[in-house]
Amino acid sequence: MRATDAFGIGLAMVGATALGSACVDYSNMEPSFATLRQAAQAQGKLIGTAVDGALLSTDSEYARLLAEEFSAVTPENATKWGPLEPQDDTYDFSDADSIVATALDHDQSLKGHVFTWHQQLPSWVESISDPDELRLALREHMETTMARYRGQIKVWDVVNEAVDDNAPAGYRENIFYELLGPDYIEEAFLMAHEADPDALLYYNDYAIERMGHKADFTYQMLRDLVARDIPIHGIGMQSHLSVHRYPAADDLRDNIRRFADLGLRVEISELDGRTSGLTGTLDQQYEAQRIAFQETVASCVLEPGCAGVTLWGFLDEYSWLDDEGTEEHGLLFDDNYEKKPSYWGVMDGLRGKWAKRGPTLVKNGDFEDELDHWVGVDSTLSLESFEDQAHPVACARGRSSSESGLSQVDLLDAFASGGSFTFRAEVRQEGTAPAGINVALIVEQSGQDPSTLSLGYLYLEEGVWRTMRGSFALAWEAPPTSVRLSFSGPDPGVDLCITQVALNQLHPAPG
Ligand code: G3I
Repeated sequence: MRATDAFGIGLAMVGATALGSACVDYSNMEPSFATLRQAAQAQGKLIGTAVDGALLSTDSEYARLLAEEFSAVTPENATKWGPLEPQDDTYDFSDADSIVATALDHDQSLKGHVFTWHQQLPSWVESISDPDELRLALREHMETTMARYRGQIKVWDVVNEAVDDNAPAGYRENIFYELLGPDYIEEAFLMAHEADPDALLYYNDYAIERMGHKADFTYQMLRDLVARDIPIHGIGMQSHLSVHRYPAADDLRDNIRRFADLGLRVEISELDGRTSGLTGTLDQQYEAQRIAFQETVASCVLEPGCAGVTLWGFLDEYSWLDDEGTEEHGLLFDDNYEKKPSYWGVMDGLRGKWAKRGPTLVKNGDFEDELDHWVGVDSTLSLESFEDQAHPVACARGRSSSESGLSQVDLLDAFASGGSFTFRAEVRQEGTAPAGINVALIVEQSGQDPSTLSLGYLYLEEGVWRTMRGSFALAWEAPPTSVRLSFSGPDPGVDLCITQVALNQLHPAPG
């Protein structure tokens, strides 16, 4: 079976309007607010963007939209170690000064980004091999930079992307980890606090938005730092989404809440949305992006512990996403500075409006009709009950391969016209060690091998129930001949149990 994550199927949209999506034309939707900044202010949240200093003087429309639409600013590159201190004790503050001055002129708050990271370090730092030399270099860099902007940049990303992506997660082995060990993280926060005791100090990372092994490791790491009174005040969940697959709102909200319960301010810190994973028409990609942004922004707005959302830029043409050669249409304004549907998705999210949810498309997802509509794949299916689970449960036992498990086969009608969806399920694995569970759609089309869209992956301990959730979008070049929902993943011999499976279509909120 050909497994592909980027779901290489796109639909020839019939009857799509020239401007907006075939569903809703957002270009003339009257928001309750004239700008994102006004909508965010009404909620007591910040709406920010990353800023490229060079554009402030070369693109007047960029500068105008920046001032009108956003209340917060993060220098995209200007306050990173490499751009700021290219040679030891030789600083170039020009770009950072320009961004800071412009933000202060427009009463925008600032977040400095970032002191310790494995990228954009100056070469003289990358060549350090002595731990004390690295400590001294970092301290002097922080002291010099934070002193210059004290009282102006009041929030700093101190540590960025310190956790690796593996399952189970661990520390990323960057130069700081290799020379100073994992304690570099608390050392960095202590140094920053000594350099500016009034600044709020953040940890920032990607792929920690949804519940899972990387978010769990990060949570335990920050819980330990907070418990030991290390001066850490916030966490940035970067949220570089793909519109064909992104964290479900309920999952993101639970995750925001648990970090907020540690006393941390949470921010969506680098929101953008790749569209190339959904090879449908541009209208379809924009529609999926609009809903993905609406769900993500609403998740922050409706969580008291979330301080706000920063987009990682706002004009598609200047997005880092296109630096790798694909056109990702990742932000809010097109090349004519026109608002895209994604702008209205952010506006709806700021207004606290979720996408509308249709009825569940899964048949007998609660197993109240025993095992109707479900089949075992190379395994034996049984209807069971568990003391720690209030609902009937279906288990796949005697699994003969990692592809085997449970499947619902008759979902063609549910997905034939594509769109955006969100799913959830309670899952449990019974094996000897933590194992990864995959939820996927297996799609068959005439004349092609079956293709797989992974909807979510959860790495979980043996014998515990966890909620698995994810949102995704679908588009077809030609209607499929079959679509089935599949739960699989653990090694052969590991039993897989599920219950409370739901899958709902997401529709744009009414105006
Ligand atoms: O400034 C130099 C220029 O002098 C040179 O001519 C040019 C060509 O080599 O490179 C320019 O530097 C580029 C820099 O952006 C400024 O444009 C670097 O090559 C390029 O790698 C750098 O990319 C940045 C990337 O971080 C670096 O990893 C992106 O703009 C920036 O959006 C991106 O942002 C990161 C966040 O900081 C952390 N989270 C992930 C996010 C995306 O990677």
